[in-house]
Amino acid sequence: ASPALLDRFGREATDLRVSLTDFCNLRCSYCMPASGLTFLSSKDLLSREEIVRMVRIGTEHLGITQVRLTGGEPLTRPDLPEIIAGISALPSAPDVSLTTNAIGLEVRAAQLREAGLDRINVSLDSVVSETFERITRRPLLHRVLEGIDAAREAGLTPIKINAVLMPGVNDHELPDLLDWCLRRDLQLRVIEQMPLDADHIWDRSSMVTAQDVHALLEGRFLLSPADVERAGAPAELFDVADRATGAHRGRMGIIASVTRPFCADCRRTRLTAEGRVRTCLFSHEETDLRGALRSGASDEAIADMWRAVQWGKAAGHGMDRPDFVQPERPMSAIGG
Ligand code: GTP
Ligand code: 5AD
Ligand code: SF4
Repeated sequence: ASPALLDRFGREATDLRVSLTDFCNLRCSYCMPASGLTFLSSKDLLSREEIVRMVRIGTEHLGITQVRLTGGEPLTRPDLPEIIAGISALPSAPDVSLTTNAIGLEVRAAQLREAGLDRINVSLDSVVSETFERITRRPLLHRVLEGIDAAREAGLTPIKINAVLMPGVNDHELPDLLDWCLRRDLQLRVIEQMPLDADHIWDRSSMVTAQDVHALLEGRFLLSPADVERAGAPAELFDVADRATGAHRGRMGIIASVTRPFCADCRRTRLTAEGRVRTCLFSHEETDLRGALRSGASDEAIADMWRAVQWGKAAGHGMDRPDFVQPERPMSAIGG
């Protein structure tokens, strides 16, 4: 059998995103309802051993080279250090990164680094406490900032900051947020909001687009496309200079999944917290592999099932099609 995870559009998935839990300690409006959700029980979640085995099958049999641990909030899993250590100890160990809200990193950053974590991306939409609280519905900005400091001290670098912009909520803060990140050597990536909100109220006409981002920044900064290979990455990178002085300040990214989709070059496959393969954020189907894992299936058999699912991956998210339907599961339950 072919070692790679291919689909019928000629793409090869080398990037595995593993959701470790659907639970989160924040309630970001674009991701979860205020009331929370009915979260998976611990017996439904893949265990540490099962996760490490799935990653091993991915790296040994399917050509996976990069693993991103997501959630929900992955730091809420008590066994996160052991999961990372298990993955890093694999003979075929992939690059391991974490997408997190950073709450709890103040006590765990060094331990995670020691376990083998390479780097982190932090979701942070505002550094103004009132705005942060309005978006996340929790007064915890100070914890996030402490977490980022701890991650830097532990060497979990480079650190990227993911910010989803919403009109009238945090879009006007963008120049200050960028300046804040540049001063701290953090790479800000501004994200177009996708229709993955729990309340299904996303509306394309009231979304901050990549084009809006340029307009919001142009009074203070000059952006020029960075000379780097994109290689399937969601972000388009820009070199940033101060408009007034021309001084180079650093880099930022724009993730324009809605207005400039990168689906044609997608290299992703996903595993949900309860062990289902999901080939796209916008899939309407998931395929359970936990049953096979728990009933003694061989590595080869599981790899074959995974290949069969990936083959059926859709060409793209299809947001522009008249028949587009938002997936039932919100972002928190998919694992961004
Ligand atoms: P690196 O570039 O390796 O640092 O990671 P990443 O940007 O892929 O990961 P991260 O978890 O930080 O995701 C950043 C943003 O990319 C998310 O907020 C999503 O908006 C977007 N994103 C992640 N995965 C996908 C995907 O599969 N499809 C689309 N369209 N957008 C995605
Ligand atoms: N659209 C775009 N990005 C989202 N994220 C969460 N929900 C959405 C959405 N509806 C982002 C978060 C996090 C990443 C994993 O996904 O900012 O950083
Ligand atoms: Fe890949 Fe689907 Fe994301 Fe497009 S929307 S980049 S196909 S996972």
